[in-house]
This record gives sequence, structure tokens and C-alpha cells, in this order.
Amino acid sequence: MFYFGADYYPEHWPETRWFEDARLMAEAGFNIVRMAEFAWSFMEPEDGKFEFAWLDRAIETLAAQDIHVVLGTPTASPPPWLMAKQEDLFLVREDGVRATYGLRREYCINNPLYHQHTERIVTKMAEHFANHSDVIGWQIDNEFGNRCYCEICRKGFLGWLQKRYQSLEEVNDVWGTAFWSHIYTDWSQIPVPLKREVAHNPGLHLDYKRFMSDSFRQYQKLQIDIIRQQTEEQFITHNLMGFGFDQLNYYDNAEDLDFVSWDNYKRMQWDMNAAIDPSSAALSADTMRGLKKKNFWVMEQQSGGGGWDIVAIPPKPGELRLWTYQSVAHGADAILYFRWRTCRTGTEQYWHGVLDHYGIPGRRYEEVSHVGMELQIIGKAIHGSQVRAPVAIMQSYDTRFAFQVQPTNPRFGYEAHIHDFYRAFFHHNIPVDIVSEKDELEGYKLVLVPAMYVLTEETVSNLERFVDSGGLLVFTPRTGVKDETNKVVNMKLPGLVTKLAGVEVEEYVSMPEDEDNQVNFELLNLKGMFPVSVWADVLKPTTAQIVARYGSDYYAGCAAVTINEFESGEVIYIGTMGDEAFYGYVVEWLLELSGLEPFLYTPGGVEVAERWQGDQRILFILNHTAEEVVVHLPFGMTNLLTNEGIEESVPLAPFDLCVLGA
Ligand code: GAL
Repeated sequence: MFYFGADYYPEHWPETRWFEDARLMAEAGFNIVRMAEFAWSFMEPEDGKFEFAWLDRAIETLAAQDIHVVLGTPTASPPPWLMAKQEDLFLVREDGVRATYGLRREYCINNPLYHQHTERIVTKMAEHFANHSDVIGWQIDNEFGNRCYCEICRKGFLGWLQKRYQSLEEVNDVWGTAFWSHIYTDWSQIPVPLKREVAHNPGLHLDYKRFMSDSFRQYQKLQIDIIRQQTEEQFITHNLMGFGFDQLNYYDNAEDLDFVSWDNYKRMQWDMNAAIDPSSAALSADTMRGLKKKNFWVMEQQSGGGGWDIVAIPPKPGELRLWTYQSVAHGADAILYFRWRTCRTGTEQYWHGVLDHYGIPGRRYEEVSHVGMELQIIGKAIHGSQVRAPVAIMQSYDTRFAFQVQPTNPRFGYEAHIHDFYRAFFHHNIPVDIVSEKDELEGYKLVLVPAMYVLTEETVSNLERFVDSGGLLVFTPRTGVKDETNKVVNMKLPGLVTKLAGVEVEEYVSMPEDEDNQVNFELLNLKGMFPVSVWADVLKPTTAQIVARYGSDYYAGCAAVTINEFESGEVIYIGTMGDEAFYGYVVEWLLELSGLEPFLYTPGGVEVAERWQGDQRILFILNHTAEEVVVHLPFGMTNLLTNEGIEESVPLAPFDLCVLGA
């Protein structure tokens, strides 16, 4: 079943309103709500006193309209009575300041007392709701994040280090504590990496980020195990935050979940630009799908202007529907809008939901209901269908964490660098999977490995297998700089992949803004000059062929881009970074080399994405522009929403879309 619904907070409204909410939801085609993830004070109003009767009644009211429920465990926002017990329940931020009560996610993830209270509330909830036929699943906590740097975490870190390393001598060795004479002679001397003017010891800092990520996973597992003791039937998930969120290793987190959910916000108060880059949500969705190689739920899909203290731009007519279908096109098997009704109080007063503050259906409710009606027609055909991608972009959380410690160049961002490549494929309507360094690469024609800064032997073997079997592999600057302890490798770059790439980095230049460069492509069928910036690896081919050279400065004429034949495959090294035109050009070259072509060519701003139900292609054509467009089809197809045949072309109104079967 395709689930469609909203995040609902019955505890914010008088009980006399619940029936009307459920009725309106059913009328909009809803069959699911998520509840209770911030309702700890309502479920345990006093220490040890539990009240679930109100939630039973809310579930009953919804169930009477055939609406199922996902319950959130409430641990992201503890009640004041709990946090008043001990000061060290509060996390210590990176700047060394302890949080105080007033928002949420302020707790220390490793605090034993917090764990005890978590165990108790989750056990009580699980005992009460595990066999409830209208409760189909659980969300653990809410959007894990917020690293802690307190004394409890420091002790936890020491234990984590003792498990990872044989001895303190080994720790000193891998962190290279000889530098500045930081040789630890007792475990207890090891600090947490509080924020300083410059980078901490890179080895220590990377390990701390790994430890924190593991702490979130362990805390999640604590809750999962409790629920699993009570039920095998109900699913367990967590709402993650897409591609951009970089505090946890999401692959590890996802491993313990039945499937991944994520929260999809397109336009929020922090970005008061009306223009949206539609490739951002697509990249997030593809990343989330890649975590378990499985379709996902969108547990929070934006349904109104997203603002806390600033009132954000409202979605334009058609945008909610468009954003919803974009999520679906990239692998959503359920959509829940955040939130059902805009709250009249609290920090999120201006985070608009499907209904406005006053609770009467308006434009957004009508649009969402329209989607509900459409999903009743096509939901079954779409549910469980798969995205298939011929291209993969590899990302690594170790590399992300290491770049957080040393960003390399003020203009460099690892996530932005990946996005630059992704965006170029997106504009060419080529589906992409986002994979991890451990993922099997068989079946892809083209794999990009942007800036794989922390590079291990296992990753290299994985990449070699891919190239051996005929794949086309692409590296970019800062590849292979570090080993997994965050030490710089003791070899010429690109380190472990020098042979594979057939080049050596003679030297590298971190470019200041006023000394950008250009590259000239010089393959027979590939000419072009592009400005480049941020970074230049000055390449010396060993076995590779030169594809582009730098245009100016003391390294003018040196190789900037190369291609190397290796076994049955090819390896490209792109030694610098460019603008949108540069990536567009490079991606066209890569597509040509790997024999890939888009299924459809579309006008700018019109996205094509596809899912497959067996042999049936389900094509989503999404007009992200405010203009009317016409998209030409290669052959006749069926409009799955209207069941009409379409011969040659589809006209799409501003922010309109169509779903075609072929
Ligand atoms: C999400 C969060 C929700 C709500 C929403 C709007 O990140 O999970 O609880 O806060 O943002 O701010």
C-alpha cells in the first residue's frame, strides 16, 4: 500500500477537534499519520506516571477513518521534570558551553540517567502499543544530531579508543602525537576536541566524530532492541535529514532500521530566495535510497512556508504537488506532510502545515487532497517499483568528517563538490545512485569518486574490481590524501590509486580567489576552454593520456585532466574544479565515453526521473519552472493519471508534472 498522510500533534488541540481532523484527513485521501514524537510530557507527565489513554483515543479516532499510525519515541524532546534532575543530562556544545532547557535535542547522547529514562518510556510505550493493530510502525527519536563534548562523552571516547586500538602507544602512533609533544602517558589525559582557532589533532578529531556517530547508533539500537522484544510485526525507522546532514555516518545508522525515512524541506526560513535548485532534493532522495538500497519513506514532506522566527516563502500553487511527486520519482513509498495543522504556539508557530492556524481547509489542503486523489489511482502501480541508475557517485562519511576537521580551501566543500557533479547528471536526465565506499559497483557503467580524501586499501580493491570489469571510473582532487587514521599518506598523490589513475600529482595549488586558472581540453573531438578555481593538482602522467592542460600561472601547459586505460576499463583524473559549464561539459564527455544517453531531452528546469515496476517504465516529467513547457516523447505513452494515450508531446503548465507509462 502507498501510504499518504501527515505528521499530527493531537496534543496541541482540544480533543473535541480530533474527529474533524480525522474526517478532513480521510477526505484528503490520507491513510497514515505519525504522532507522539514530541509528546513525552503527555505520556509521562510526572516521573514514573504514565498516561496513554489520550493517545489510545486519538488512534481510535483516526482508525475510525481507516488511518494508520506510526508512533515516534519521544526522546528528542525530554520533559522539564527530567532535565531538572541533573545538570549533566544536558549536552556540552563544541564551544564548551553546556546547553540549557528551552528547545530540543539538548540531551547528552551518552548520559546513563538519560538512557535509563529512555529505556523506561520506550518500554512502556512498546508494551502498550506493540500489539495495536492500527499502529504499524515506529520512528526512533527525531533527526539524530547535535554532538556532545561533555565529561561523560570524554570517558565514553576513552572506552571507544581502548576497543579500537591495542594500546596507548598505538594511539600515540596513529595520531602522530610526536607533533608538538602531545604524547599521552595515560588514557585519562586524552581531551575531547573542543572548538579552537585552528584544527585539533586531525587523527583525534576524526576519531571523536566517529565515536559520536557510533554513540547515536548505539542509542538508537537501545530503543530498537526494546521495541523488538515486544513486536516483530511493526516496522522501525528513523527520520534522517538527506544528503546535506553530516554529523552521523548514515550508513551505520540505517543498518539497524527496517527502512530509512527522511525529512524533505525545499524552501525554509534560512534561504529567503524564491529560486530552488531542484537537484538538491533529488540528491538527498538518491542518497537516502542508497543507504539501504531500498525505497524510503518521506516522514516529513514540506507542506507550507517553513519558518520559525522568520516567515518563509509559501509554496506557490502546484509546488507542493510537484515536490511530492519528485520524492516519489526518486523512491518514496510513503509521503507524510509536515505538519497537519500550523501550531498557534511555540518555536514553530510559523512553520506552516497543510492547514493554517485556524484549521479551515484552504489552498494547500486542496492541493494535497488532489495528490491524495491521484495516488489512489496510481499508488498501487508505483509502490515498490524501483529506481535503476547506470551511474554511481561514491561518498564517504569518513571523508566528510576529515574535511570538517580541515576544510582544505576556504572555497571548497565536499558536499558541494559532489553536488556539482550530481547536478550535471540531473540536468542531463541521467539517474544516479549515491553509494558508499563499501558498496558493490557491479552493474554501473560509470562511477565517480569525488575527492575521496580518506582512502583505504579495501576501497581501492573495490574500485579496481570495477575498472577490471570494464567500468569507467573518475577521480577528482584530494583523492587518497589520508589513510583511515587521518594521517597524510607517505607517497606521491593520488596515493593508493596512482597506478590505477596512471598519474602522479607533481604538486598541488590551493588557489586564492584572485589567482584562478583555466583549462584547455585538447582531445580531437573535445575542445574547449573553461575557468577553473579552488584547487589545481598539477599532474604528471605515467601511463595516462592528457586530456586538458592548465592555461596560466607557473604550471601553464601542465596536465589538468587525464585518462588512463587500466585492464578492461578506463580511469579519468580531473585535477581541478570548475563552474556549472565545466561540469556540464565534463559530464557530456563521460556520457559519451560510457555510451549513456538520456531517455528524454527536456527544456531547462524540466526533470525526468523514472521507476521500474518489472519491465514497466514509470516516467515522471516534472516542470520545476514557472513557465509553460512542451516535452517531446520518443514514442507514444500512456498518461497513468488519466489513462489517456499520448502520441508525441506533453504540454506542462508551470510547476505541473505528468506520470507516464511506457
Ligand atoms: C524537522 C523536524 C520537525 C520540525 C520541522 C520544521 O527537521 O523533524 O520536528 O521541527 O523540521 O522545523
